[in-house]
Amino acid sequence: MDEINDIEKKHISVLLEELVESIEVFDDKKNVIVDCTLWMWWHASKIIEKMNAWDLFIWFDADTKNLEMAKLRIENILKERQVESIFINSNFKNLKSELKNIKIEKITWIYYDLGLSSLHLDEADRWFSFMQDWPLDMRLDKSKWKTAEDIVNSYTAAELREIFLKYWEEPQANKISHKIVEQRKKKRLKRTLDLSELVWWTPKTKSRIFQAIRIEVNWELEAIEQSINDAIELLEKKGKIFVISFHSLEDRTVKQIFKRESKDCICNDLICSCNHKKSLKLLNKKPILPTQEEIRNNKRSRSAKARFAEKI
Ligand SMILES: C[S@@+](CC[C@H](N)C(=O)[O-])C[C@H]1O[C@@H](n2cnc3c(N)ncnc32)[C@H](O)[C@@H]1O
Repeated sequence: MDEINDIEKKHISVLLEELVESIEVFDDKKNVIVDCTLWMWWHASKIIEKMNAWDLFIWFDADTKNLEMAKLRIENILKERQVESIFINSNFKNLKSELKNIKIEKITWIYYDLGLSSLHLDEADRWFSFMQDWPLDMRLDKSKWKTAEDIVNSYTAAELREIFLKYWEEPQANKISHKIVEQRKKKRLKRTLDLSELVWWTPKTKSRIFQAIRIEVNWELEAIEQSINDAIELLEKKGKIFVISFHSLEDRTVKQIFKRESKDCICNDLICSCNHKKSLKLLNKKPILPTQEEIRNNKRSRSAKARFAEKI
């Protein structure tokens, strides 16, 4: 419990008020709300207060340790509220199949908070810290085979360059990828410091390189794309989706899906041949951003952007 208390003190949720205010529960039917990124439950614990007895709240977190800790905290709140709950220890890219397993066909609200938790940022054995010496792992889900070590020691220079460019448009991508390939011929890269020493440019460059590898290890953009597409399909009419992201590529992925799903034709042919039908109404034209006050109180919030839409 002491560990939870310590972590709880460090973590501040981003766009908490904006997300909670966006939720309007239906009073004439059962609400099925899905939180795809539960830990640290701040969003969740505020949303429960708005739910009716016998509504269903479903929580995903790919990280077993995070989910277990969140369960301890949330179970007390649940008892008071009589909200039904299901915890799912899985990547949100499996949203559709996991919901099918528990016989849920439709949902009324879904949200994602795509930031890393403070636990991940502090537990550098799983995450990236170019300041400390840790095994090069970076897996969110330990059952997956591919670690950061596998990537830096097996991708070709061209493949490495591509991920540094794709995820961060890193200007030094070419030099760094060749440096990695040269160095690993002498000695396998196993530790965060092995990599950090090779990337001797600015801390910003180091941070981008480490983040790009983390995104590749966890297939983060593919997971977001898959999950959001499935979420839109699962939403019932007037159901809503709210996504908070922290990285421009995450936001671009969300924006593109929302844009596509808010149009009746996506082929741009003179006579439409795609037969695409819009499924979303955008509830904010521009992304929702943290206030200056939030940024002052929590620097981590400064890169946050949220998008919000309704199923039609
Ligand atoms: C920023 S935290 C969520 C914070 C929470 N919304 C709050 O209010 O305190 C993100 C959580 O999402 C989880 N996560 C990240 N990517 C995931 C994925 N693809 N599938 C499931 N969980 C994921 C992480 O393990 C982490 O616990």
